[in-house]
Amino acid sequence: MIRTLLILTTLFAASAWAQDLPDGPGKPATERICTGCHGAEMFATYHKSADDWERTITTMTEKGLSISDADYATVLDYLSKSLGPLPPKVNVNKATAADLVRILKITDKQAEAIVAYRTKNGDFKDLDGVKKVDGLDAATVDGKKDNIVF
Ligand code: HEC
Repeated sequence: MIRTLLILTTLFAASAWAQDLPDGPGKPATERICTGCHGAEMFATYHKSADDWERTITTMTEKGLSISDADYATVLDYLSKSLGPLPPKVNVNKATAADLVRILKITDKQAEAIVAYRTKNGDFKDLDGVKKVDGLDAATVDGKKDNIVF
């Protein structure tokens, strides 16, 4: 029984920790202003655009949030930057050249080189593999690492 309780407590603590707000300018103000009625876990795992966060804050004012103009700017800036949209991802082993161009913002020629390379050598396993493609230097590939999956 005590053992089970201990495990449950540990799990609960771990999940509360995971839902902590990410660090960034404006975090203390956001914690102060947005956790009066519910915890940060209500929104800590969201990823939304600035427009969508504006709509959320408007909804919260309808629920009773009162916020000064200065705090509004700080909180909106924090939410948009620290809980902004996730970067779009593309699978370099499956995507068409057109999708590679669109999501990675590379040239047609670079995208076609990726497709040709994987057709000849098999699937990429990591970023180092992608760096071997003709016309893609390491800095370019590193700059896109958040957008690439395998
Ligand atoms: C005056 C009380 C209050 C304050 C302050 C408040 N909220 Fe809420 N919030 C609520 C209530 C009530 C709900 C609905 C809870 C439910 O559905 O169980 C809610 C739900 C939410 C939800 C989930 C529903 C949705 O619209 O997606 C998010 C996200 C959210 N709040 C974010 C915020 C943020 C960000 C702030 C700070 C700007 C904030 N809240 C401040 C009362 C408040």
